[in-house]
Amino acid sequence: MKLNTRILPDIASLSRAVLEETLAIIQEAVAKRGRFAIALSGGHTPEKMFSLWAETAQYRDKTPWDRIHLFWSDERYVPENDPLSNYHMARETLISHVPIPAENVHPVPTDLSPPEACARAYEADLLKFFGAEPPAFDVQLLGIGPEGHTASLFPGSAALDEKLRWVAAVRVPAEPSQRVTFTPVVLNRGRNTFFLVAGENKRDILSAIREESATETSQYPAIRIHPAKTPVWFLDAAAAG
Ligand code: 6PG
Repeated sequence: MKLNTRILPDIASLSRAVLEETLAIIQEAVAKRGRFAIALSGGHTPEKMFSLWAETAQYRDKTPWDRIHLFWSDERYVPENDPLSNYHMARETLISHVPIPAENVHPVPTDLSPPEACARAYEADLLKFFGAEPPAFDVQLLGIGPEGHTASLFPGSAALDEKLRWVAAVRVPAEPSQRVTFTPVVLNRGRNTFFLVAGENKRDILSAIREESATETSQYPAIRIHPAKTPVWFLDAAAAG
């Protein structure tokens, strides 16, 4: 499969490129719809983008924080203060450093039991914010794991074939193993989809994906995400090879 890539020399320039694209989309979304909704990914790759957003006056001060709404495309089923929490990572690198109103931050709840209850509660939050149609995020940031997972959609997961639910509770072959994730019902509606991929350890999965011809039935969940607007794969040189 041919990927629509943008190759940047390193993680800092990759993060700046994604941020600058995002800021342009923010202006457009706010002008058109009065607000901007982003689905953040977890993992380590977006940390640099988040801290650049918080620390660089040129980016931070250009952002209309009262119009920005943060959501998560997946979350680990751990308390929000756990260092493995995706919300925790975004809070430490971005949220606690910028004047975003608390009500604009929409973390996945992880304090209900079982995890399925968290998925249903997040779906209810989304419904309240977006209305009855599945959400179409202005920007969705995604990553990829070594076996091709994206968000918390791992190879072979039943959630990949979900047609109704927007959010699913899943068990995954990685730590922490219980997670809550957007399903393709949501991810296939994203207005702009950016994969952030950095580091030499992503080279093998990228070449496997490039050789893959199936998309909708692929064993690699990342390429089963096919919104109308083709995803952009931001790669650093180490990942691109
Ligand atoms: C998560 C994710 C996951 C992540 C990839 C890439 O919660 O783990 O959202 O899909 O984006 O595993 O992770 P890295 O950026 O750490 O390589």
